[in-house]
Amino acid sequence: MLRLAALVSLSLTLVSPSFAALYNSLAELPTNKTYDFVVVGGGTGGSVVATRLTENSNTSVLVLEAGPSNRGILNATVPFYGFYITTGTEIDWNYTTTAQPGFGGRSVISRAGHVLGGSSSVNGMIWVRGSVADWNHLANVSGDPGWGWDNIYTYYKKLEQYTPPSTGKDVSGEYDPSVHGTSGPLGISMPGVTEDTDARVINTTKEFPDEFPFVLDYNNPDTPIGMGWVQNTIRDGTRASAAYAYLTDSVLARSNLDVVVNTRVTKLTGSTNGTIDTAQVTNADGSVTSLKASKEIILSAGTISDTRILLNSGIGPASQIQNLKGVELVKDIPDVGQNLADHMIMPIIWRVNSTNTIDYYAQHPEAAQAALEQWQTNKTGRFASGEPFQAGFFRLNESDPEVQSMIQKYGDPATGPDSPHIEMVALNGNPSGVSAAGGYYFALACVNLVPYSRGNVTLNPSDPLGQPLVNPNYYDHPMDIFIVSQCMRMAIKFASGSAFKGYLEDNYVGLEGVIDSNGNINEDALYANARNITVAGDHQIATNIISPKGASTGVVDPDLKVKGINGLRIVDLSIFPHTPASHTESIVYAISERASDLIKQEYA
Ligand SMILES: Cc1cc2nc3c(=O)[nH]c(=O)nc-3n(C[C@H](O)[C@H](O)[C@H](O)COP(=O)(O)OP(=O)(O)OC[C@H]3O[C@@H](n4cnc5c(N)ncnc54)[C@H](O)[C@@H]3O)c2cc1C
Ligand SMILES: *[C@@H]1O[C@H](CO)[C@@H](O)[C@H](O)[C@H]1NC(C)=O
Ligand SMILES: *[C@@H]1O[C@H](CO)[C@@H](O)[C@H](O)[C@H]1NC(C)=O
Ligand SMILES: *[C@@H]1O[C@H](CO)[C@@H](O)[C@H](O)[C@H]1NC(C)=O
Ligand SMILES: *[C@@H]1O[C@H](CO)[C@@H](O)[C@H](O)[C@H]1NC(C)=O
Ligand SMILES: *[C@@H]1O[C@H](CO)[C@@H](O)[C@H](O)[C@H]1NC(C)=O
Ligand SMILES: *[C@@H]1O[C@H](CO)[C@@H](O)[C@H](O)[C@H]1NC(C)=O
Ligand SMILES: *[C@@H]1O[C@H](CO)[C@@H](O)[C@H](O)[C@H]1NC(C)=O
Ligand SMILES: *[C@@H]1O[C@H](CO)[C@@H](O)[C@H](O)[C@H]1NC(C)=O
Ligand SMILES: *[C@@H]1O[C@H](CO)[C@@H](O)[C@H](O)[C@H]1NC(C)=O
Ligand SMILES: *[C@@H]1O[C@H](CO)[C@@H](O)[C@H](O)[C@H]1NC(C)=O
Ligand SMILES: *[C@@H]1O[C@H](CO)[C@@H](O)[C@H](O)[C@H]1NC(C)=O
Ligand SMILES: *[C@@H]1O[C@H](CO)[C@@H](O)[C@H](O)[C@H]1NC(C)=O
Repeated sequence: MLRLAALVSLSLTLVSPSFAALYNSLAELPTNKTYDFVVVGGGTGGSVVATRLTENSNTSVLVLEAGPSNRGILNATVPFYGFYITTGTEIDWNYTTTAQPGFGGRSVISRAGHVLGGSSSVNGMIWVRGSVADWNHLANVSGDPGWGWDNIYTYYKKLEQYTPPSTGKDVSGEYDPSVHGTSGPLGISMPGVTEDTDARVINTTKEFPDEFPFVLDYNNPDTPIGMGWVQNTIRDGTRASAAYAYLTDSVLARSNLDVVVNTRVTKLTGSTNGTIDTAQVTNADGSVTSLKASKEIILSAGTISDTRILLNSGIGPASQIQNLKGVELVKDIPDVGQNLADHMIMPIIWRVNSTNTIDYYAQHPEAAQAALEQWQTNKTGRFASGEPFQAGFFRLNESDPEVQSMIQKYGDPATGPDSPHIEMVALNGNPSGVSAAGGYYFALACVNLVPYSRGNVTLNPSDPLGQPLVNPNYYDHPMDIFIVSQCMRMAIKFASGSAFKGYLEDNYVGLEGVIDSNGNINEDALYANARNITVAGDHQIATNIISPKGASTGVVDPDLKVKGINGLRIVDLSIFPHTPASHTESIVYAISERASDLIKQEYA
């Protein structure tokens, strides 16, 4: 047994010495030692915090990741595959939602990465920072000004590294270098090739400048509104996941950092009630291995998985924990698993008069193979970029009487007057990524960035370690589908631009029965399509929300420590109290960079 392990690690060493501190199983961990910190989940937040804490050579960190290593997995590396659905593969958790009444009773796939780097290893790589108002709101609801934009902006500049595309494409005029970082670990890049639809989209922003103003850089805090080029977490033609960007060869070579993959934590325990200092892993043979932290356990398992771990550890709503067989209450925290929110995506898809869309690769395996080979040769070509290439961020039209009356009735869901409500993404192909059946498409995907609806993550009492019940309650609040219907109207207008004449053919998905022969829009049909077709945004958030120290609601304090528990902190998207007017990986990177500094300061 020992000899086998030694052989395995020897061969790993011979193949790649840099893998020294990346272990494929607990059995490979060389010593039974106590670490200062045990990080549960080597995802986006976990990778950042482990890397930053071990910058101090006196601080030892163990990372336990349920999924496999990202290294060598093409689906987690080739940017073009970011667009593919990894659902049902080993690097997805295979979560689905409960039946959603707002979706006409459909349940939908709710993706989360099950691989080192977590969701940053499987996501769409779209880089959109939270809005100024979103961060200032976080400062406000937590009572900690350090979570406000001014401070967070310094972290964005610290962590970003803007790099040119590997293809050498000239991207001047597509973003504003002055508002970005140049030397951080996280590579950011622009689309590296030109698509047929680029000029059509950009020209349409010029044709309808009132509705769809062109914006040079949506990440410039002074220009959050408008349509422009997408920025991506891609570097050197490769997906820049948190694992790729932070857990580099030299970081993994640190003697104070151990990372173990294929290792799922089932429960957190402590030496006394109210203290957490141990992460438990249930092995295949049913035995339990305990991993101990002398300072803290850092929970970074992501919005959905966190709840399963916390409830199984007796931390959460007492009313639920009482029903879980074999789980003893440690701390009654009613908000654990509550407040779940998510963005949602309503795609509107047209057939196009062209074969030059990304659908081509789904239908021509030989072209896909050639593109993959080129990527493997020198990290260039179409597969060195993701999709989409343009996205727009918009406010509701507050001059429209219907919008006015909805805002009067329900309030403005944005966190500030400059913060967008709507995102509209332009895709040169079918966003379902499975058009192998045929056809060539263009899509505008509508996102309500600011849903009011809230749901929860709960456990099945008869199988508490099984798949959790994920209920984002999509379209539960009437404002939410109203905002999507407004975006659908915008998409219809956008598609009427002259640059799309002769290019867009009939609508394929999303506008069934919407436009009558006189060109009038049927409001009911907009809603019916939205209920039928909208899918999850995969930005699950808010199951462990932050609140001021001493508050009776919330799960973590402003320093991200779990309320009423010693030794447990949460560093991932779950602490953010609402869906931001952005994508969410940027939120996690900023949270975890600041959290790392807070932890370092505390133990300095
Ligand atoms: C398909 C998809 C597309 C997306 N597209 C974008 C995009 O284009 N732009 C953007 O900004 N955001 C996007 N997102 C969202 C963004 O990637 C996530 O919000 C963010 O990465 C979440 O970070 P996290 O640290 O909270 O969780 P994660 O990065 O998911 O990390 C959690 C980690 O914990 C591990 N884990 C879970 N349970 C256990 C356990 N019991 N034991 C050990 N390990 C465990 C998981 O395997 C995972 O590695 C997308 C997400 C998905 C899923
Ligand atoms: C690590 O600990 C040693 C011994 O206590 C101390 O001399 C050294 O300064 C510490 N290093 C850092 C980076 O804190
Ligand atoms: C990569 O993703 C594709 C698309 O979902 C899937 O068909 C394929 O099996 C995946 N590959 C691996 C090795 O998981
Ligand atoms: C997701 O489903 C696929 C296909 O059944 C499976 O191989 C994979 O292990 C599952 N992922 C997890 C985390 O269970
Ligand atoms: C939050 O904002 C409200 C209204 O803008 C203000 O009254 C309150 O004092 C703020 N709270 C904190 C903690 O900053
Ligand atoms: C370390 O040893 C303790 C006590 O023998 C045991 O409970 C624990 O599971 C061991 N941990 C590992 C990682 O082997
Ligand atoms: C732990 O303490 C809490 C009070 O904070 C109590 O409700 C719970 O019953 C205790 N659990 C055990 C196992 O003693
Ligand atoms: C990369 O390789 C392809 C052929 O596979 C070639 O056409 C291209 O010029 C190369 N690009 C660079 C930047 O070397
Ligand atoms: C907003 O709505 C008003 C009133 O319906 C309309 O006149 C105006 O053109 C709209 N503005 C935009 C930018 O769509
Ligand atoms: C979860 O949400 C559903 C739907 O809103 C609700 O019926 C249920 O009571 C909630 N469960 C808990 C434990 O909060
Ligand atoms: C976009 O605008 C440019 C400059 O006016 C023009 O040359 C080009 O033909 C337009 N392309 C499309 C597809 O409308
Ligand atoms: C399709 O596009 C071609 C040019 O690429 C154009 O000649 C033709 O008229 C278009 N067809 C339609 C139906 O607009
Ligand atoms: C909704 O879906 C049903 C079942 O697939 C279909 O029959 C119906 O036409 C769809 N309606 C709309 C408006 O999309």
